[in-house]
Amino acid sequence: MKGIILAGGSGSRLYPITIAVSKQLLPVYDKPMIYYPLSVLMLAGIKEILFITTPQDQESFQKLLGDGSQLGCDFQYAVQEKPNGLAEAFVIGEKFIGDDKVALALGDNIFHGNGLGSLLRSKVDIDGAAIFAYPVKDPQRYGVVEFDENNKAISIEEKPKEPRSKYAVPGLYFYDNNVVKFAKKVKPSVRGEKEISTINQMYLKAGKLEVGVMTRGMSWFDTGTVESLDDATEFIRVLQNRQSEMIGCVEEVAFLHNFIKKNEIKVAVKKYGKSKYGEYLQTILREYER
Ligand code: DAU
Repeated sequence: MKGIILAGGSGSRLYPITIAVSKQLLPVYDKPMIYYPLSVLMLAGIKEILFITTPQDQESFQKLLGDGSQLGCDFQYAVQEKPNGLAEAFVIGEKFIGDDKVALALGDNIFHGNGLGSLLRSKVDIDGAAIFAYPVKDPQRYGVVEFDENNKAISIEEKPKEPRSKYAVPGLYFYDNNVVKFAKKVKPSVRGEKEISTINQMYLKAGKLEVGVMTRGMSWFDTGTVESLDDATEFIRVLQNRQSEMIGCVEEVAFLHNFIKKNEIKVAVKKYGKSKYGEYLQTILREYER
C-alpha cells in the first residue's frame, strides 16, 4: 500500500499565522505538524509516500523531509494548484498510486492511542474502503457517518447543518485502487470542493465501505482552528512530559519497524543537535545499546 499526505489548502482559518507559513509546518508542541500524520502512515508500515502541497510551500516540505531515505522511506512530492478539495488527491496522485492500494492522511490530523499501529496495519490490504468514526461534540464541523441499529453505516454527509449522529470521520482513509476511478467522478459540492465524503458515499453505495469506531483509548485531533491547534499542542506536551515517550517521532517509528538501523539514528542525533528531539533520539540509542 502507498500513502498520500495532503498538506495543501489555504489554512485561512488560522490567519494571520498561515499567511506566510504552511499550516502543516506549524509546531504542535516540539515538532512540525506533518510529523504526526507521517508517523501514522509509517506505523501502518507504509514507506512510499506522496506529499501534496501548495506550489509555494513545496520547497519547505522538501527541505524538512527530503527524499525519505533517512527514514528508510521513499518520499515524493506533488503540487495542488488550488485548494479544490481532498478528493483531488487521488487524481493528482494517479501515477504515483499506479495499480496499488492507497491510504490518505490529512496533514493536519493527529492520532494517538493504544493499539493504533495494529489497527492501521489491519487495513493495508483493504478490499473496498476503510474509514473510522469518532464521537465528537461538534459533528457539524466534519464528515458525519450514521449507523443503523446493527452498527452498519447507512449515510455519510459532509458538514451537515443537522448531523444525524455524533460520529465524525477522522482524516485517515484506506482505499483499494478503485479510488482513482471514483475520484475522477467527484463533482464540486455547494461549497465548491471535491469532497472526500463523496468518495466514501460511492463506496457505501457499492457496499464496500468498512467503518471502524475509534473508542475511548484513541485520541484524535484536527488542528484546523486556533483552539484545536492549541488543544493538540497541550495534549502532546502533557502526555510527553508525563510519560517520557514522544508522540510522532518519525525516526523512532522507522527504527522500531526496522525501516532503519542504529546508524541512521546516530546521523539523526547529529542533525537535531541539542534540541529536546535530538536528546530523545539519544535516549533511544542508549536503550538499544544496553
Ligand atoms: O479533519 C477531518 C475532516 O477533514 C473530515 O471529517 C471531513 O470530512 C473532511 O472534509 C475534512 O474537513 P476539513 O474542513 O477539516 O478539511 P480542511 O479544509 O481543513 O482540509 C484538511 C487538510 O487537507 C488540511 O491539512 C488542508 C488540506 N487540503 C485541504 C483542501 C480543501 C488540501 O491539501 N487541499 C485542499 O484542497
